Amino acid sequence: MLKIMSIAGARPNFMKLASIVRAVEQHNNTSSGPVINHIIVHTGQHYDQKMSDSFFVDLGIPQPDINLEVGSGSHASQTAEIMKRFEPVLLEQCPDILLVVGDVNSTIACTLVAAKIEYPVGHKRRRPIIVHVEAGLRSFDRDMPEEVNRILTDAISDLLFTTEELCLSYLQREGVAEDKVHFVGNVMIDTLMQHVEKADLSIIREQLGVDRSYALVTLHRPSNVDRLETLEPLVDCLEKIAKRQLVVFPIHPRTKNSLQTFGLYQRLEDNQDIIIAGPLGYLDFLNLIKNASVVITDSGGIQEETTVLKVPCVTLRENRNARLL
Ligand code: UD1
Repeated sequence: MLKIMSIAGARPNFMKLASIVRAVEQHNNTSSGPVINHIIVHTGQHYDQKMSDSFFVDLGIPQPDINLEVGSGSHASQTAEIMKRFEPVLLEQCPDILLVVGDVNSTIACTLVAAKIEYPVGHKRRRPIIVHVEAGLRSFDRDMPEEVNRILTDAISDLLFTTEELCLSYLQREGVAEDKVHFVGNVMIDTLMQHVEKADLSIIREQLGVDRSYALVTLHRPSNVDRLETLEPLVDCLEKIAKRQLVVFPIHPRTKNSLQTFGLYQRLEDNQDIIIAGPLGYLDFLNLIKNASVVITDSGGIQEETTVLKVPCVTLRENRNARLL
């Protein structure tokens, strides 16, 4: 028997985890290889029903076996809290493999714990083999918390599973040995393809009152939403777009906090041509992407999804690199 522990913490992790859960189930049903005991740990970085639980339901992921319930905090306190709460779990469970996805604070926190853990004497290994799924992506902008998380996670993982072949050259430049890197494809897009038809059944457009063609907007990057100097021009811009085209804007909690703090929320709420909503479930949001005339976003994952669905996408990021992840 092989014990694999997967970590999920924040919204973009859940769609990646879904394909891994399915692959493990398939393996256990069909393969003659060792049975996999798959343990899911949710760090609780995202905890709202709409930011977390609804994804487990929409994507058919079993409830996490363990929830660390860390909640929000500064980068340092959130990362530290995850590490503190994860260490005893890892020592108790002693998985053979620790599987981390993406680049959020939960990813680096759990990887760092696993890289230094010492399993109890007599255990067959000293620590788990650490596998990073979605390794090797770089924006080359170290002001982004995610870029720091990616570089560090890749540096201390044992196996690096990449979504595209270019990642190997980025990793080699950082001194990573080629034999650690495996080009496996994109688990987030696997999940997308599995759910794309189901998303047609969503009635979200009726529920939101979307009656004509629309631009779908998402914003959550600290560099866009945490300061008035960047957020206000973006709101001006949305108002200009709304004069020509209906805007649908499901608002991330971080962005809502900032809009309210800076007194910008009311402007959006009062605009007849801007439909605002809270965070949406996976299938509802997928339905909105599929039917949008354009998507305007600062999310790395949504850029990939729109590319696959062939929906035009405008990226609201400062980086000028080809891969804006
Ligand atoms: C995190 C990830 C980012 C990812 C994003 C998707 C890091 C460094 N960032 O950013 O890469 O693209 O998730 O959403 O890990 N909040 C709630 N309810 C929740 C979760 C958060 O209200 O369930 C609010 C809290 O006020 C919190 C804020 O949102 O302080 C930000 O949450 P946090 O997890 O710190 O980072 P994100 O901006 O969501």
